[in-house]
Amino acid sequence: MRIDVLTLFPNMILPVIKESIIGRAMYEKKITINVIDFRDYSTNKHQKVDDYPYGGGAGMVLQVEPIVKALRSIEGYQDALKLIMTPQGEPYLQTTAEKFARCDHMIILCGHYEGFDERVRAYFDLEVSIGDFVLTGGEYAALVVMDSVVRLIPGVLNKEASFQEDSFSEGLLEYPQYTRPRVFEGKEVPEVLLSGHHEAIRAWRDSQRLERTKKRREDLYKKYRKR
Ligand code: ADE
Repeated sequence: MRIDVLTLFPNMILPVIKESIIGRAMYEKKITINVIDFRDYSTNKHQKVDDYPYGGGAGMVLQVEPIVKALRSIEGYQDALKLIMTPQGEPYLQTTAEKFARCDHMIILCGHYEGFDERVRAYFDLEVSIGDFVLTGGEYAALVVMDSVVRLIPGVLNKEASFQEDSFSEGLLEYPQYTRPRVFEGKEVPEVLLSGHHEAIRAWRDSQRLERTKKRREDLYKKYRKR
């Protein structure tokens, strides 16, 4: 997979991904990530990429031209999945990550300031929000999307890692996990996990997933029950 990120702050992306599993996947050539500073495509001698909003109002608005020029500089951009990170987008879910992980080429635009010229939207396929809160920039959201997508690409995580047991796979939260010691400050590991009874362990874990989801995320639980 190839991911191109369009941003005004490349240093919010590059050092972070270098330090992560995404960095390892890049090094092992399982993915290619390319960060493009769309200020380089400014049409202005001062390299400005924003301007005052027509009709007045507070703040600055990102201009359409540098973004479209930067987009068109990307080889094969026509066939890529083109995303805009914005709180106005559709909610980002594990199922969205699974869908994105199947595509060959993604382009992610990170917004800033008071937003971007509405005409930018015509050049992209999908707007994505990582939650009902407002970030100072789309870079944080782009990193969230990249991390959750890249870990699903075959060969990126260890072979033992199982996506089936991820939180949200099958629409439920994860079961509780324990490791040594057996007792810590009086808190014991549930007996069933020490039993060596695979069937009993599986049944316990399934019931824990249900119980935890019901208690913490009634919305997910109801959806699960309805399927
Ligand atoms: N940019 C600013 N806030 C955002 C959010 N919640 N999701 C995606 N992009 C954003």
